[in-house]
Amino acid sequence: MQANIVTLPGDYIGPEIIAEAVKVLARVAEKYGHTFTFDERKLGGASIDAYGVPLTEETLAACNAADAVLMGSVGGPKWDKVPADKRPEKGLLALRKGMQVYANLRPCTIHPQLAGACPLRPDIISTPIDIMILRELTGDIYFGKRTRSEDRSAATDEMAYSVPEVERLARIGFEMAKKRRGKLCSVDKANVLECSRLWRETVQRLSEEYPEVEVSYMYVDNAAMQLILRPSQFDVMITGNLFGDILSDESAAIAGSLGMMPSASLGDGSKGLYEPIHGSAPDIAGKDIANPLGTILSGALLLRHSLGLETEAKAIEDAVAKVLDEGYRTPDIYSDGCTKVGCIKMGDLVAERV
Ligand code: IPM
Ligand code: MG
Repeated sequence: MQANIVTLPGDYIGPEIIAEAVKVLARVAEKYGHTFTFDERKLGGASIDAYGVPLTEETLAACNAADAVLMGSVGGPKWDKVPADKRPEKGLLALRKGMQVYANLRPCTIHPQLAGACPLRPDIISTPIDIMILRELTGDIYFGKRTRSEDRSAATDEMAYSVPEVERLARIGFEMAKKRRGKLCSVDKANVLECSRLWRETVQRLSEEYPEVEVSYMYVDNAAMQLILRPSQFDVMITGNLFGDILSDESAAIAGSLGMMPSASLGDGSKGLYEPIHGSAPDIAGKDIANPLGTILSGALLLRHSLGLETEAKAIEDAVAKVLDEGYRTPDIYSDGCTKVGCIKMGDLVAERV
């Protein structure tokens, strides 16, 4: 097949990890007889430096015209002083909104080879952990109105949700749960927030259409605790943008390293935005020590969800598992007895095993 993939390396370690993911995707194309073209564009700080804004209209149009978009990471100290509406992160938010990718899939599993990197007690992770955090991505307090008083001594951020926004996200969650272990946990703060009450009512109403799915409701504070106490109880978790941001970082700690975590952001069609869930890691940029596996695994999700190439997606995931089995580790997941490798070498190893 032919596919046009826009790549957005972004800032700091972004270009390093994207280079490795592109290497692996190019290897997949070669092996399985596909033609992937990679159209590299600027996002975040890189775009601010080149064009004065974190996302240009041309870049957004290219992303919307592409079959899929693969992003690295944005932001960093270099742009901490720019005005709030021009921050690198703003480019990413505008991209998510502009592509209408409202459903953010953040899978959390522990690669058995990395069980030692999980900070939880062995008895807690002896029951397999396979969680799909489904985070709403284009609404909530992330996109609400913000104000700052004239004397700058007070501020507000508005949290807002509408029924259709919750419904379309929840529907994806129910459909996923049906194909997985049939369990869905909806996370909110309905004991305090009106948005959460609307969220819960909507999910409750929708649940009547899915009698085969076992639904539970959890307040976000309790969910944060339950993720640590008994992570294996969760199958699909659906939640709003802000809670999902926080809980997915927590789930990354369970998986052993933020560097291992891929994500897919989807809308109504097959197009999607794929990115590792970690940030731009300015402290390790340019040293060839970043872990490219979260981005490489995001490439696998891209093949699966946007291009419908399940065999090829699995080939990448199996190649990553094989490299880990053979004991290769970037510094963030290194433990005694393993072979420490850099970002480029890790990309080579995965590509060779595809
Ligand atoms: C994430 C990140 C972003 C978010 C930042 C960079 C805006 O933390 O993808 O989880 O908050 O969504
Ligand atoms: Mg985050």
